Amino acid sequence: MTRAGPAPPLAVVPAGAGGGRRKVGERLARRGSRTSGGMGVARLRMGVVGVGGRGSGLVRAVAAVPEVELTAVADVVAAQAEKVAAQAGVPGHTSHVALLESGLVEAVLIGTPHPFHAQIAVDAAERGIHVLTEKPIAVRVAEADRMVAAARRAGVRLGVMFQRRLEPLHRQAREIIASGALGALHEVEMSSTGWYRLQSYYEGGAWRGTWKGEGGGILANQAPHDLDLLAWLGGMPAALTATLRRRVHRIEVENTVSALLEYGGTQTGFFRATTADPQGRRSIEITGELGRLAVRDGKLLHCRYPRPVAEDILHTTDRRATPFTVEWREVPLEGGGGDTTGAVIAAFARAVAGEGDLVATGEDGLRALELANAMHLSGLTGRRVRLPVDRAEIDALYGDLAAGRLVLDPEGPRAGAG
Ligand SMILES: NC(=O)c1ccc[n+]([C@@H]2O[C@H](COP(=O)([O-])OP(=O)(O)OC[C@H]3O[C@@H](n4cnc5c(N)ncnc54)[C@H](O)[C@@H]3O)[C@@H](O)[C@H]2O)c1
Repeated sequence: MTRAGPAPPLAVVPAGAGGGRRKVGERLARRGSRTSGGMGVARLRMGVVGVGGRGSGLVRAVAAVPEVELTAVADVVAAQAEKVAAQAGVPGHTSHVALLESGLVEAVLIGTPHPFHAQIAVDAAERGIHVLTEKPIAVRVAEADRMVAAARRAGVRLGVMFQRRLEPLHRQAREIIASGALGALHEVEMSSTGWYRLQSYYEGGAWRGTWKGEGGGILANQAPHDLDLLAWLGGMPAALTATLRRRVHRIEVENTVSALLEYGGTQTGFFRATTADPQGRRSIEITGELGRLAVRDGKLLHCRYPRPVAEDILHTTDRRATPFTVEWREVPLEGGGGDTTGAVIAAFARAVAGEGDLVATGEDGLRALELANAMHLSGLTGRRVRLPVDRAEIDALYGDLAAGRLVLDPEGPRAGAG
């Protein structure tokens, strides 16, 4: 079924009516290929699938990006598709396949709940349509593998909405690490406890806070941003051990995570996250051989050691010497304040046009998901888990959780009756 809003910028092309591609092409030709920012690049015709809470914001973001033209929306709830289509003045569809086959889109932005990201992305790639998906890239790593493979096969771009990478705090932290200023990394520590959620949040959608509908709790929904930053700034661990808990909230899934991270060499790390701390915070500390970096209270702080740690430990002969003192410097943040979601969409359009890189690729999305899946596996089995995780084991684990054969009690996992 297709719904069209009133007075769309493109005359309505009913999905399934046939000839949509030709008609759109003709209209674009009549209007001339619009260009963005004087770059001479034709605007990327983009549809948004899943136009609920986040998705309706994505529709507004797409409409505001000069490099992109919003050409269609889709939502399985007809009234939602109709409402957003009418507001945006573009045709609306009630299935992603109808949108993909409408001939209206060269790219799709996926804003559905996570369990649908993979199938929609693969269906798009197989039709030669570029994909930008909301985080998390998918629920299970095997699904993300399929997405990455489908995009490669089809030669389309696959991007993930990790807009927090563009915040000056994180962008500049990454630049400092990449410059070598910290030397070899010793420790990465991330507190991702500032995701406080009320019970009413979880009750705001039947899929929320369930294994079947969402594939996890904080690890599936809120923490993907942080897990991406953890991997982007500190690298990927080789193994981890996690503990999962559910405090206070009446949900099936974890709302609290603590994980010990083991990297190659001597680097270690610690990650903690919760949606149940009203005084939670977000901080990152990265310590290296030559200095330390902290993202804390909206500030980026950096200190350089006067000499490498190994030199101090091994060559200071005075046993009573106090540890060397350091001066912390607040790094002035450059830029920021803009719409980072819009900036991810604009970068995606430029990357499709062969001008620049994606903010985060499908492989980046897969890395963040690898961490989330590994933490679930470790926390639910009580085992130390090596990365990359075993795909079949992860599929079986989520199957057991969705079917109630494995249950997460507030204080830990137990076998269920399902
Ligand atoms: N990047 C961010 O900062 C950010 C912020 C919020 C949400 N998100 C992500 O956005 C996604 C959606 O979250 P939300 O809070 O908007 O959920 P929501 O429940 O408010 O909206 C989801 C919408 O998708 C529709 N939908 C469901 N299945 C569909 C399908 N197969 N095809 C088409 N439409 C379908 C629903 O009808 C609904 O309108 C999640 O993956 C979430 O993690 C990302």
